[in-house]
Order: sequence, then C-alpha cells, then structure tokens
Amino acid sequence: MLGLNFAQEMMDRHEIIAVDRGKLVSAPFTVLKQDLLDPRAEDTILDSAQPDWLINCAALADLDACENNPELAKLLNTDLPRRLARACKTRNIPFVHISTDAVFDGEKDGFYTEEDKPNPLGIYARTKLEGEWAVLTENSKALVARVNFYGWSLGGRRSLAEFFFHNLSNNKSMSGFTDVVFCPMLVNDTSRILARMVKRGLSGLYHLVGTQAMSKYQFGVEIARKFSLRESEITPKSISFSGLLARRANNLWLSTHKLSTALAEDLPDFSTGLNEFYTQNQQGYPQKIRSYAQV
Ligand SMILES: NC(=O)c1ccc[n+]([C@@H]2O[C@H](COP(=O)([O-])OP(=O)(O)OC[C@H]3O[C@@H](n4cnc5c(N)ncnc54)[C@H](OP(=O)(O)O)[C@@H]3O)[C@@H](O)[C@H]2O)c1
Repeated sequence: MLGLNFAQEMMDRHEIIAVDRGKLVSAPFTVLKQDLLDPRAEDTILDSAQPDWLINCAALADLDACENNPELAKLLNTDLPRRLARACKTRNIPFVHISTDAVFDGEKDGFYTEEDKPNPLGIYARTKLEGEWAVLTENSKALVARVNFYGWSLGGRRSLAEFFFHNLSNNKSMSGFTDVVFCPMLVNDTSRILARMVKRGLSGLYHLVGTQAMSKYQFGVEIARKFSLRESEITPKSISFSGLLARRANNLWLSTHKLSTALAEDLPDFSTGLNEFYTQNQQGYPQKIRSYAQV
C-alpha cells in the first residue's frame, strides 16, 4: 500500500523504479520483478537500478499472519531490512526503512517520543523493532520512520479506512474499537513527507504519523461523516472482545515533534488528509491504482 501510493505520488517528480513480485503488470513507472527473499536479491536490484536512494516498504505487515508464521516475519521484517541497509551502505546509497508505531505496548499515559522504550506485544511488532535495530546498527546513516497511515490500496482491503468505507457503503454494520488509540495519516502525506525527509538528509529514528490521536471507533465515525454514510452502523466496542490473534496496544499516540522540528514545518492535520482521501475517491484514484495490477 505504501509502496504503490508512494510511487503514484512521486512519479511526476522522480524516476521511480519499483520492486514487486509480479502483481504490477501495467504501472506507469518501471517495475523490476524480484522476490526479495531470493539470495542476493538486494545486489541484483541495486546493481540493475543504481538508484539515488532506496526506500524499503516491503514487510509481512499482517499482524495475525506474523503470529502464524514467525519465521517468515523474521525474514521479511528483520533480516531483509538488515540486508538492504548493508547493501546500500556498501554502495553509498541513502536508505530509508519503514517501521511501525506498534513497537510500543500502549501502557503509557500520553504520547510516545522516539526516546521512549519500546516493548512489542506480538511477533509483528517484535520483528519490526528488531528490523529497526538491525538497520541502524548496520548503517548509521539510514533513516527509519515509524508510520501509521490509511488510504486506497491495490486490493481495496489493506487499510482501516477502506474497511469502514466499503462496509458503510454496502450498508453493513461493523464494530469500531473505542479503546485503541492511534494517529492515522493519509498515505499520500506520508509519501510526500518521506521524500522531504530524504531531501533534508535526515538519518536515525523518526515518528511519522498523524498529528491527531483518536480511537479506531472515532476514525470510523470520521469516515462515515466525510462520505455522508450512516455512522450508526458502527458499534463502539472494546478490543478485549475482538478475538484477534495478535495482541494490539491500546495507546499508540506518538509525538511527531522531533520530525516537525527537523523539517521546520507543521505536519498536515487530520481533516486535510481526510478531505484528500474523499476527493481521491471522487476522482477515481482507487480504480486508477488498481488498474496497474493483476490481483
Ligand atoms: N498500514 C499501516 O498503517 C502501517 C502501520 C505501521 C507500519 N506499517 C509499515 O509500513 C510498511 C508498508 O506497509 P503496507 O501497509 O504498505 O504493507 P503491504 O501493503 O502489505 O505491503 C507490503 C509489500 O511487501 C511485499 N512483499 C512481501 N514479501 C515480499 C517478497 N518476498 N518479495 C517482494 N515483495 C514482497 C508485498 O508484496 P505482495 O503483495 O506480493 O505480497 C507487499 O507489496 C511496512 O513496513 C509496514 O510494517 C504500515
């Protein structure tokens, strides 16, 4: 989801060379077909693309899939970032790695800064945290961004915003967690800010999330209101009764002060991103990105 939206957002300003296992068949940018778990995949990619910089958006990002397959989670979330960080360092290519807000256990009152000690609750979070450490140990010039984003995805099911939008549009009722707080940012904003972070030459660890913390229930209500759909279809519920496999933290309110100071700018507010998400739908953005792929 991030990789494709990033490419879409940046292709008019930068030459994009995407790496994909074979889904992207008619994208308007160059696509290298490569399984990243192949031995020496990092060398193959970097030697053929010779990029000015590399951003790693690949992951096993499904929390429950990570619980079911911890070995694959480690390969993709820890070992792959280490290999990419090392290969970029050898070639002097700036490297950006994407991590997650979920490295925290959510027990803190108030927001988390980059100085706070992570305490991952599940396999996804643990392998992602170990990925951060691996990248920064291997390559001290690397940039690691802990993100949380929503937007339109290739399969239409990757983001929570799409979950609420599709269910509400089909008059289906659903639950929204009242006791899980997070900071959603439109993925296009995430992409634009990542590019500015690279341009500024930032390195080290940064939080790159939305500036407004809200519950997942509240997020659903915001989507319903923006699209004039029935918010009463969303039932407020506690995550304790969710039956989800992987444990989720209750509070993922992250401070972005370090990043906004480094960029000397305010990060976009929630309503600006939500307006763009709405306009994208009006203008056929979801259909456009889906037309690039064979899903
Ligand atoms: N979504 C969020 O709100 C959120 C929150 C916190 C952190 N993040 C982080 O943000 C990053 C991007 O997440 P996302 O939501 O964009 O995830 P995503 O849509 O699941 O994208 C992950 C990508 O990795 C690719 N991939 C997996 N294994 C591969 C392999 N062996 N070879 C080549 N490609 C492979 C997948 O390709 P296939 O489609 O072929 O499997 C997929 O395109 C991840 O690091 C994630 O941990 C996301």
